[in-house]
Amino acid sequence: TWTMGNIIDDQVAAIREKVGDKEVICGLSGGVDSAVAAALVHKAVGDQLTCVFVDHGLLRAGEAEQVEQDYVAATGIKLKVVDAADRFLAALDGVVDPEDKRKIIGREFIRVFEAAAREVAAAGDVEFLVQGTLYPDVVESGGGTGTANIKSHHNVGGLPDDLKFSLVEPLRTLFKDEVRQLGLSLGLPEAMVWRHPFPGPGLAIRIIGAVSADRLSVLRAADLIAREELTAAGLDRDVWQFPVVLLADVRSVGVQGDGRTYGHPVVLRPVSSEDAMTADWSRLPYDVIARISTRITNEVPEVNRVVLDVTSKPPGTIEWE
Ligand code: XMP
Repeated sequence: TWTMGNIIDDQVAAIREKVGDKEVICGLSGGVDSAVAAALVHKAVGDQLTCVFVDHGLLRAGEAEQVEQDYVAATGIKLKVVDAADRFLAALDGVVDPEDKRKIIGREFIRVFEAAAREVAAAGDVEFLVQGTLYPDVVESGGGTGTANIKSHHNVGGLPDDLKFSLVEPLRTLFKDEVRQLGLSLGLPEAMVWRHPFPGPGLAIRIIGAVSADRLSVLRAADLIAREELTAAGLDRDVWQFPVVLLADVRSVGVQGDGRTYGHPVVLRPVSSEDAMTADWSRLPYDVIARISTRITNEVPEVNRVVLDVTSKPPGTIEWE
């Protein structure tokens, strides 16, 4: 019969056989997929695995700490952290087009990861790279049914020829809910296991307009409030993803106290979905939306308006870019 225990045992045996006594490297993104993939490989080959976490500075509040502290504490995995926030900000300076943002982030990510991988590889006999590819990723990037690749999903596919690794992809046949069960069975931190999917390019594609450090901190503050209130209402697991989007080039007039304001709107984009291929906008209770709106406009001075996205996918995508 089919149980999580079987899946883990089978995967661990398969990984051991494939990897042998070689070294393995894995890029952690902060998401559940790479975290579970790495934990499986660690269970199979222990310290033959080195994880690399490129902090591109585009994660949400608390997410880098979750990887560097909680995940390492839970797994004992060897982790190399690269703080590349300034480099990504410089590369993104003035860039508005969504696909340009993706290309730049993908390119920088590969360069930074490559440099880190070279250091790890120089220290040992590294032959394998772990990727947390899921079944829907395989399908959506055209590897399955030939579906068009609507947005370029960035991953570590573009390493140079002298730094080629064989891939280890232990999650390739699994859906998200199965990966979460696997993560729980492996003892990963709950906050990580239940974290909503988050795009590789991070908050850069949730700022409509150019990315800057100031805009990132505005969006981070609004996003944290939305997540806190969703969790406090006990609705965290009913929602697939809850992007908060900053319309950084839009301003609207408001009034607060005695004063006129001229601030930015944020968009709440809570969606329900099974696999991100299609989605519906979540019918969150009005009082939860109201608390989020009140708190954001009170606590984030740059934001004076909160709007709700009521578009399903299709025709809207989940992300705004
Ligand atoms: P869309 O916006 O296309 O998103 O409905 C579908 C799912 O993919 C995520 N997404 C991305 N993930 N790199 C990623 O790793 C990307 O460039 C990217 N764009 C969208 C999105 O968050 C949703 O889960």
